[in-house]
Amino acid sequence: MARNIPKDFIDNIIDKANIVDIIGNYIKLEKKGNDYWARCPFHSEKTSSFSVSENKQFFHCFGCGAHGNAIGFIMDHSNKTYPEAIETIANTLGLEIPRDKESSKIYEARKILQNSLNDAKDNFENQLKNSTKAISYLKQRNITGETAKIFNIGYAANDYQVLNKFLSATYTEKNLLEAGLIVKKDKNSYDKFRDRIMFPIHDQTGNIIAFGGRILNEDKEKSLAKYMNSPETALFSKKKVLYNLHLAKKEKKSRDFLYVVEGYMDVIKLHQAGIKNSVATLGTAVTQENLLQCFKYTKEIICCFDGDNAGKKAAWQGVENIMPVIKDGDAISFVFLPENCDPDNIIENGGEKLWNENINKKISIEEFIYLKYSKEFDLSTAAGKTQYLQKIDALLKKLNAKILKQIIMEYLKEKVGVKYISKKNKLEEPVQHKKYKTTSPLQKAVLILLHNPNVNINEELFNDTRIKGNKGIILMKSIVELIKKNNSIKLGAILESFRDDEKIYVSLEKISRIPITDYEYPDKELNACLCLAIRNTLKSKLADIDPSDLKEFSSVQREIREIEEKSKNY
Ligand code: UTP
Ligand code: MN
Repeated sequence: MARNIPKDFIDNIIDKANIVDIIGNYIKLEKKGNDYWARCPFHSEKTSSFSVSENKQFFHCFGCGAHGNAIGFIMDHSNKTYPEAIETIANTLGLEIPRDKESSKIYEARKILQNSLNDAKDNFENQLKNSTKAISYLKQRNITGETAKIFNIGYAANDYQVLNKFLSATYTEKNLLEAGLIVKKDKNSYDKFRDRIMFPIHDQTGNIIAFGGRILNEDKEKSLAKYMNSPETALFSKKKVLYNLHLAKKEKKSRDFLYVVEGYMDVIKLHQAGIKNSVATLGTAVTQENLLQCFKYTKEIICCFDGDNAGKKAAWQGVENIMPVIKDGDAISFVFLPENCDPDNIIENGGEKLWNENINKKISIEEFIYLKYSKEFDLSTAAGKTQYLQKIDALLKKLNAKILKQIIMEYLKEKVGVKYISKKNKLEEPVQHKKYKTTSPLQKAVLILLHNPNVNINEELFNDTRIKGNKGIILMKSIVELIKKNNSIKLGAILESFRDDEKIYVSLEKISRIPITDYEYPDKELNACLCLAIRNTLKSKLADIDPSDLKEFSSVQREIREIEEKSKNY
């Protein structure tokens, strides 16, 4: 799809957009020295290690290694696709994206779906106004008119054609089927939601993407599902969405923690009680997508479940789901409410005070794991302890967060009196320093060039035949070509130019995340790297020469001495 937006348009956007303004639209940046700083939006932290360089049009987090240009930031921060990120930037610049036929078709189709859902919401809200039955249901559930408005709650009457008729004036049957608003049987289409209280579901930017509908009376004989959601559509995927994230993320409290609850009603009642930092899954256990989304906005998620067996099962399912995507620094805790109690009931029974009393009983993810596994085995025996540890090993294998893994492991071992910690499992150094370092002189040279596009490269060294086939040199040559064409190009734009060339893009991406020292003489550093690369090539050549071939051997040795001599100039 990215290919459908003309390349020169993308270049133009990158040239015009200022990364500081763009990121500044999402998080508060503070200028210190040459750069702008903030608490990193991609991991939770107390001090600011997220930096944005206006000079380089690039961001970099010294804590978690997140990095990239303006487009990358929007993609990661708002979970947008590449074309969507381009569109966002184009919008802020007041530019219209020229589109080819294929992508404008997709774009238009999504717009139509979005519009139809929006119109449906208006219609449901109007239907609610006209239904005493629906209004009294909401009253009976203690939902105020104001709250209903905030959440755009509506009503779909007990009729097969109200919405279909209303929307058919504007949309085709195909549109409405694709939006999941109507269903078709044989040749007839009719409203999907009938006689239900309607809850619009928004994506995190606030667009309506689906609906959930609740029946008014739980009639066991009719065996209707209590809640019905829109089907999966081009806009809506149940496991990716959190109800109310678009409002909750605006709350200041959400930066510290977010409640993840199970139902729409829970979110709504919490909000009405002044607890506005809650979101709900849509009838699924917590998914990886849920977790990743939440941690863009918060430091801790507190998952709240009904204390009955179904609640515990859902909570555990969530733990298993999210293991692979938990990052070091993510805080996850659990609250098990009294049996058959959901947040709605708690608020009804005792308001915010009772809610906080329950939240104070939260347990950490490691405590939850202990509670679960300690019940499964007889921990008074060695065999039981072993089985317990085996189970933990298997679970934690999925956890990639190294520090957290170690802490949880130690906690769970100590709980059953196992003190021995193998060397292999010793707390590892934070990954950053180990991982983000240049591994070869040419990699360092590329890094310097990326950050200093106008650096003076020694042509003789750069074109030295002994290293001309080296991957790093080839990469540098294509970057230099680019700089020749546009000598004001910055790091962010350089990276962008290679996006379509996957191999180069991936290696540049890797290199660009390495923190760079601000060299006083980048030219000298870079040229020294070239010397070193030549020397290394010669050294490995030397290793391959049969030492009995004295002539060849001493000639290479001489070359090495020469280049070592030369490198002293740098
Ligand atoms: P609950 O049954 O706990 O709903 O289901 P609730 O929020 O407490 O609703 P009230 O208080 O009875 O009105 C929790 C969530 O599970 C999904 C819905 O997303 C609901 O909010 N669910 C539940 C369904 O999708 N279908 C159902 O039939 C029931
Ligand atoms: Mn409920």
